[in-house]
Parts: sequence; structure tokens; C-alpha cells
Amino acid sequence: MSVAVVTGSAGLIGSETARFLHEQGMEVVGIDNNMRAYFFGADGSTEWNSKQLEKDLKNFRHHALDVRDEAAVGELFAELGGNIELVIHTAAQPSHDWAAREPFTDFTVNANGTLVLLESTRQHCPEATFIFTSTNKVYGDLPNSLPLVEKSTRWEVNESHPYYEHGIDESMSLDQSKHSLFGASKVAADILTQEYGRYFGLKTGTFRGGCLTGPAHSGAELHGFLAYLVKCAMSGKPYTIYGYKGKQVRDNIHSYDLVNAFWHFFQNPIPGAVYNMGGSRHSNCSMLEAIDYTEKLCGRELNYVLSDQVRSGDHIWWISDVRKFQQDYPGWSYRYDLKRIMEEIVAATAERLETATA
Ligand SMILES: NC(=O)c1ccc[n+]([C@@H]2O[C@H](COP(=O)([O-])OP(=O)(O)OC[C@H]3O[C@@H](n4cnc5c(N)ncnc54)[C@H](O)[C@@H]3O)[C@@H](O)[C@H]2O)c1
Repeated sequence: MSVAVVTGSAGLIGSETARFLHEQGMEVVGIDNNMRAYFFGADGSTEWNSKQLEKDLKNFRHHALDVRDEAAVGELFAELGGNIELVIHTAAQPSHDWAAREPFTDFTVNANGTLVLLESTRQHCPEATFIFTSTNKVYGDLPNSLPLVEKSTRWEVNESHPYYEHGIDESMSLDQSKHSLFGASKVAADILTQEYGRYFGLKTGTFRGGCLTGPAHSGAELHGFLAYLVKCAMSGKPYTIYGYKGKQVRDNIHSYDLVNAFWHFFQNPIPGAVYNMGGSRHSNCSMLEAIDYTEKLCGRELNYVLSDQVRSGDHIWWISDVRKFQQDYPGWSYRYDLKRIMEEIVAATAERLETATA
């Protein structure tokens, strides 16, 4: 049976990946040490998801390893060797804001951890496809220098601008802008992944995500905005919007659609490829629009405040241009739009809140 290694397997993208690959008949080896609970407290714990995977998937094995642990990861890869056909690396310190609290932790998890996995792949299974979940934060705050226009519920890029119709493509510079420490550690990992493709010829693919979301998100204040918004609306917790009058725009892609994109890449990998991957024009919203949707779906008002404080390096408007990926993999398409994404998150949150109070 062919083996896939999935890091961050208890997280939003990792767990969706584990389920997807298992369904394709692969044996899935998950690596996750629940460090999300260390980053974000109990709200962020992904232990529930680890347990669920072990219960649901017959050919799934969980390893509570730290991706920075070169010896332990190397040993696991040595044991699995050439049976590994696919490595999907989603483990990360994923928050912009958290990174400044512990720069060493952020950098070592995101950059060193990626290096450990790339090198383990090169040493023990060089024929495997390696997929890295990067982020649009690698472009720093450069998107904020686009000509933006304020509309009633959102910021928009000027209609005459080439990015207006399809969003921002991969030609945007990564250089000379403010990234936050998180953006910087992800740039290091993003470039390392490209380099293992270009320099060593590994079949690496880098996917720069917009907002990734779905029902398996352990939404916390500092990460997973749609999931956290819904959690607040349903539980009555107060919610704070930071800056830009709540009109900042995010594109949102469902974890299934992203993982399905990984699968298409795995069928025919292009070494060193880089893709912007998000909801694009197909699925996007501003904070105010997301709140409006949430309130309608939950049937109750969100208790929120608008703060003038802006998150350092935060994007005002981000929409991913996914046409490069679509051109390389024309068989891939979206299954989810924003409406369906929101409905699923609301249903999953209601179920989890019910279980917690039962
Ligand atoms: N969610 C988003 O909106 C978004 C957007 C762009 C990019 N990304 C990237 O996509 C990837 C997946 O994001 P997600 O939303 O699924 O994150 P997540 O936090 O839900 O999952 C990541 C998992 O990695 C685990 N982990 C963290 N550090 C670890 C370590 N040192 N060793 C082992 N496991 C560790 C965590 O416990 C968690 O379960 C990340 O690389 C993230 O930076 C996410």
C-alpha cells in the first residue's frame, strides 16, 4: 500500500488531507504534537480531531512528533522509506500576530520544521511528491499598495487595475514589504521548498493559501476567522474586528477544494511549482459581509466591536488569482462557494457546542 505522510494531521488542512488520501486507498501516517493548543490555548486544541481520525480511519497512524525533531522525523522516514509516495506538510505556527510573541518558536516550527521534512524526503524517499502549504503573507503588505477604493461593505481594487478581474497572481514581489515575523518564517519555508524542487529536482509544490477554512477548523481568536466568528455568534462571545472599518476582504477556500488541488498536483507534479490558491473571485467576503452572513445563518446577532487598531502587516484586500493552477490542472474545479462553506461551519460548530455542553 502506498504511504502518505501528513504533518499537522490534526489541523484543518491536515485532517482533511488525511481523510481524502485514506479514501483514495493510501495508508496515512500523521504527524501532529497538538502544538496548536500551546499557541492558542484550549480553543485551539486539535486533540479532538486526532482522536476522531484514529477512530474513523483504518489505515491511519498518528505520531505525536515535533516536526523540528530532526532525529525522530528522520527515523520515521527511514522506517517508511521508499513506500512514501507523498508528503503533505501542513504543520505550522499559523498566526501572524502570535509570531511576535515567540520569534524563535515561530521561526523554528515554520522554517526549520520545513527543512527537516524536505531533507528527510530527499534522504529517504526522493521520488515522493512534496507539497507545502505556504501563505499569501509571503507577499508581505505589498497588496496594500494597490489602488484601493472604499465601497459600502468592502474595500475593492480599482476596476481599471489588472488584478481587479481575477485577483493577485504569483508575479507579485516577495521583497521589500512588511511581512510580520510569521510572513518571514513562511517565506523561508516557501523558498526552501522551491529550492528542493529546482536545485535537487524533488517533486515539490508550493501552495500559497488565502483564507483556508472548513468545518474541521479549531477556530481561535488569532487564527481561523470564519470558524471563530461563527463560534462567537453561536456562543455569545464578544468579537473584535481589527482595523479597516471591517471592510477588509479575504478570499475563502474550503479545505476540500484545497486538498483536491493537492491531489491533482500529485497525479502530475511539476517540480518547484508555486501557486496562489484561495477562493478567488468565486468565494470571498469582507468582515462586515461575513458577519452579515453569519447572523442570518445563526439567527442571532454577533456581539462585536470595531477597533481602530490594525494588525501589523495585515492585508486590506486579498483575492487570489488561481488561473495558473487551473491552467496546469484543468481537471480541478471548486466544489464549495462561500454560502456552502458558511453553512457547513455553522452546522459543525452547532454540533461541537452541543457535544461540549452535553
Ligand atoms: N488557515 C488559514 O487560513 C491558512 C492560510 C494560509 C496558509 N495556511 C497554512 O496552511 C497550513 C495549515 O493550516 P491550518 O489552518 O490547517 O493550521 P492548523 O493550526 O489548523 O493545523 C496545523 C497543525 O499543525 C500542528 N503543529 C504545529 N506545530 C507543530 C510541530 N512543531 N510539530 C508537529 N505538529 C505541529 C498543530 O498542532 C495543528 O494541529 C499552515 O502551514 C498554515 O500556515 C493556513
